[in-house]
Amino acid sequence: GKAGHRHFMLKEIFEQPQVIGDTINAFVSASTGAIALPDLPFDPAKVPRLTIVACGTAYYVAMVAKYWFEQVARLPVDVDIGSEFRYRDTPFEAGGVAIFVSQSGETLDTLEALRHAKRAGQHIVSIVNVPESTIARESDRVLYTLAGPEIGVASTKAFTTQLTVMACLVLAFARARGTISHEREAELALALREVPARAAEVLRHDDAIQALAGVVAESRDALYLGRGTAYPIALEGALKLKEISYIHAEGYAAGEMKHGPISLIDDGVPVIALAPSDALFEKVVSNIQEVAARSGRVLLISDADGVARLGSKVRWSIELPKVDPFVAPILYSLPVQLLAYHTAVAKGTDVDQPRNLAKSVTVE
Ligand code: F6R
Repeated sequence: GKAGHRHFMLKEIFEQPQVIGDTINAFVSASTGAIALPDLPFDPAKVPRLTIVACGTAYYVAMVAKYWFEQVARLPVDVDIGSEFRYRDTPFEAGGVAIFVSQSGETLDTLEALRHAKRAGQHIVSIVNVPESTIARESDRVLYTLAGPEIGVASTKAFTTQLTVMACLVLAFARARGTISHEREAELALALREVPARAAEVLRHDDAIQALAGVVAESRDALYLGRGTAYPIALEGALKLKEISYIHAEGYAAGEMKHGPISLIDDGVPVIALAPSDALFEKVVSNIQEVAARSGRVLLISDADGVARLGSKVRWSIELPKVDPFVAPILYSLPVQLLAYHTAVAKGTDVDQPRNLAKSVTVE
């Protein structure tokens, strides 16, 4: 059942501290606290290139993973959506690894992309939530998300546990490839182990986010902005809002606003800025000031440092705990899920079963 929650989606949002913890524990060595390298059918030190393919929400996991693998494991990564990848004529590198991300393990475009990469001789790894699913069966190695059954059509806990598995895999690759110091690896592993506790703190903003959802519910359009790994989370926030509240929303890389979309800004369009105080923060500050100067109404989602720096320049802010920027995309997913959820409830849409959508897309 819904465990006392009004919708499966809300129950699943609130399960995240638990299921992220379960997923991390499957990779962490209980004795040392280090991320244990999952047993892989290839040597990560010798992989020339990674290809990551998925659809929808799972594709945004692939986008975050690209930043992580490139920065931390110094590995070039291609990402694509299943429906494009399977018909592209990609030149594959010998010894390459292709990773497929899917909650259901049955999404046809992802499955066909997997078969395409397999025919081209790539090692196939998948990150899947449903055991015994087709994608799991056809992979050389499956890394399971331990999210448990996800009933709400809009993916929530599958998304954050997919990010969690990716983060563990990135650390394992970085160690095998010698691209990370022991100290930094220990810091990142600790930051990851602390995500469940931090996620529980983030969820305490539920009431504040519900209050802001009233504003979003009255809007026709919304924009989500972020840079670095917050950019795919901006795309995820926009997808979630469109999907369940039927409000038009777009996610943009904050630096891309001035190349066109800034003309959309007026006081009727809420702008949700995802801005952890990381190396890119000052860049985001100028992007937010550009929006504010055009009477855009900004909801800033940041940490104490970010809110201290920018809070007076924006209409609303939500203060999340300060975390290592590496794990920020996992935590910043939660407020955008809650915002979409409460906006949909305010609009009276069918949150768990949005129109025109199926939980598992097994057609092309
Ligand atoms: C959005 C959503 C979809 C799925 C996509 C892939 O909230 O749930 O975009 O992420 O259809 O599904 P899976 O992960 O089952 O391959």
